[in-house]
Amino acid sequence: MSDKVTFRVFRGEPDADGDPFGRMVDYEVKLDEGMVVLDVIHRIQAEEAPDLSCRWNCKAGKCGSCSAEVNGKPRLMCMTRMEDILEETPENEPVLVKPMQAFPLTKDLVTDTSWAYRTDKMIEPINGPEEPDWEFHQEEADRLQEFRSCIECMLCVNTCHVLREHQMYEEFAGPRFFVRLASLEMHPLDTENRVPEIKDDFGIGYCNITRCCTEVCPAGIQITDNAIIPLKERVVTEYYDPILNPIKAALNITSGVVSGVFQPFTDKFQPPGSDPGNLKKAQSAIELERSRAEEAKKVDSTRTDSARRRFRTERKNRGPKRR
Ligand code: SF4
Ligand code: SF4
Ligand code: FES
Repeated sequence: MSDKVTFRVFRGEPDADGDPFGRMVDYEVKLDEGMVVLDVIHRIQAEEAPDLSCRWNCKAGKCGSCSAEVNGKPRLMCMTRMEDILEETPENEPVLVKPMQAFPLTKDLVTDTSWAYRTDKMIEPINGPEEPDWEFHQEEADRLQEFRSCIECMLCVNTCHVLREHQMYEEFAGPRFFVRLASLEMHPLDTENRVPEIKDDFGIGYCNITRCCTEVCPAGIQITDNAIIPLKERVVTEYYDPILNPIKAALNITSGVVSGVFQPFTDKFQPPGSDPGNLKKAQSAIELERSRAEEAKKVDSTRTDSARRRFRTERKNRGPKRR
């Protein structure tokens, strides 16, 4: 292993509009055998930048505090070995360390995750009989145990495009909270029914099962397969199953909103590719999405330009930077 490494770390704070304002700063650090990314950050704090902010607690992958983006990938800094990082970083390139991009910046590598606490409070807690007459089987405990291993690192939330790209923080609970909802809904003693909220308030329909959240979960929770898909199935059973719920299905048919397995038997069903109307709709949706992306790009580059200008003025006023 090389005995030195260059870390390019984000340094900055939010500007008056709350947008991240700062720059990437290079630090050359001596490496010791067995170091993890968090060790390198601590060495930078100890030797070069005592004002570099980063959040951590356990240094054992248990508290979920040290989440950041290392080389563009959401990870726990305390569980990311330098050996692996050096292997994936191109030669003579620095290791990039940035804060989680889906949350508002507090300072440097620290982000404000209070949205998570607000969302958590919206979930109806467990509600069961005072004196349960129930034999709890091991299989029931095992099923919940996977969800209970969540360390609330928010790496899954940081990765989910519904939140990160589309900013649907008010409409969508995000993968971490579908895990929590699943742990409550699958609890054998719980008597609450949260399916209406899962559909309407927590917006499970926005999840298109890309599995990106599952890929980054350091606890190895199968978020999509074991939490989100079963919750989606409950919503479908409750609202759209024409066999279990024939009255609702019939109402849907008479009101023209045809869904589920009855759809192919109605004259409103058009096999893919056969309806030019559908094609037109899809094309105009793509056009709309393209023009939104163009608009977002413009806003982004204007913001970057004004941040650069501000930074240059600040630097001029401040004089040479201390390191
Ligand atoms: S599977 Fe769903 S919750 Fe997970 S990242 Fe994809 S859209 Fe988000
Ligand atoms: S589900 Fe996994 S990635 Fe998401 S908060 Fe919990 S431990 Fe972190
Ligand atoms: S410091 Fe606790 S998970 Fe990294």
